Amino acid sequence: MAKLAINGGTPLCGKGKKWAKWPISDEKDVQLISKVTRSNRWSYDGPVEWQFAEAFAKYQGAKFGLCCANGTVGIHMALESLGIGAYDEVLVPGMTWQATAAACVDVNAIPVLVDIEPDTWNIDVDAAEAAITKRTKAIIVVHLYGAMTDMDRLMKLCKKHNLYLIEDCAHQHGSFWKGRGVGSLGDVSSWSFQESKVLSSGEGGFNMCKTKEQFYKLYSLRNCGRPYEASPAVFGLKKKVGFETALQSGNYRLTEWQAAILLGGLGRLDQQVKLRDENAQYLNAQLAKIPGILPMRRRKEVTQQSYFNFTFRLDTKELKVINAQFSAALNAELSTPEAWEVPYDPLNGCGLYKPLTKSRHNLGKDYWKAINPARFKLPVCEDANQASGMAVHHVLLMNARKDIDVVAAAVKKLVDNIEEVRKLNIGPAKKYQALSR
Ligand SMILES: Cc1ncc(COP(=O)(O)O)c(C=O)c1O
Repeated sequence: MAKLAINGGTPLCGKGKKWAKWPISDEKDVQLISKVTRSNRWSYDGPVEWQFAEAFAKYQGAKFGLCCANGTVGIHMALESLGIGAYDEVLVPGMTWQATAAACVDVNAIPVLVDIEPDTWNIDVDAAEAAITKRTKAIIVVHLYGAMTDMDRLMKLCKKHNLYLIEDCAHQHGSFWKGRGVGSLGDVSSWSFQESKVLSSGEGGFNMCKTKEQFYKLYSLRNCGRPYEASPAVFGLKKKVGFETALQSGNYRLTEWQAAILLGGLGRLDQQVKLRDENAQYLNAQLAKIPGILPMRRRKEVTQQSYFNFTFRLDTKELKVINAQFSAALNAELSTPEAWEVPYDPLNGCGLYKPLTKSRHNLGKDYWKAINPARFKLPVCEDANQASGMAVHHVLLMNARKDIDVVAAAVKKLVDNIEEVRKLNIGPAKKYQALSR
């Protein structure tokens, strides 16, 4: 008789089970939003926006920071503010949301896709070093899901080769490396506040940087090329600077309502990150006891880990199953509102990363060839996506400890009945499906 819910057995959790939901708001958010609505400042460097910008930069330990429209233009502006443009090579991890690489092509740079570490899915520093050429100008580190690469080695590598370090922090608001906030480690960082993120305003983005010159450039880039001006002044700067600091650009601002909801969220962020981190460490300890289940590596330098997704790996040699089978069976057991998935499609085969579909990218034959993602080999990314990687949205980690126990029990149930999982007629995740956010 079938034991697993996917085959008609009794699930560990029925469909009626109440799981935590995301996003979260409270009465204070509603009051802040109403206050903005009743005011005559709805946009354009409003007081709530700067209040949030100063508070968020301070929380992450960055000198300067400012809001922008979303995390995609945040990366775009990070690159432009560093003067990165036509034919410059930028190293990008092969597993990330497509925007990290697409933003490079949008400034006419060449994204060079680099493989990831098998146990963190973050950029492999050795592979990055091997990919450096005379044309390399920058490395984008994506602090992916809920793990970090060796940031000390990466920062050293950038210094040695005179490269800019850009941090894509879209997944890790509230992560700290040796007590230093992510986003304050590199030259410029970019953040997303899209609905699924751990700090959210539905849509929205942010940049952080180390110098006032860089801040003026970012300001100008997000505000139609205007030079910085704020009243009252922010980050201890002058109230305004002259047109000589300005750069050609468009409008990438956000609204006071978004800033208000972000301010509310920021008040809850650290507590939520700590709850997720505690639950993740607990769940990892439970999973480590199950044969064939491999928790992700957490480096000792990580002093607080934020999770956009909770992830783990299957030892596919031992279990002889793949992630598409395992996640389908796990979803049937748990019925969580956010399903277990496979991690992002590698960017050399991702349905949403197609730089050769835009004629404006066709700067010439050599450039066209250089941006073709198919030229990169990414075996570790492929294995994570096609076979070993398991991922679920961070809201799972906001449940009570007894619910986290149920998650561990469900994984154990599948491993105890692995023959049934093995027989499921489910092939590897289709390439080019790009379902994950
Ligand atoms: C790693 C990463 N970078 C950049 C982005 C882009 O952010 P946005 O959706 O706000 O444009 C995302 C969004 O999911 C992301 O996950």
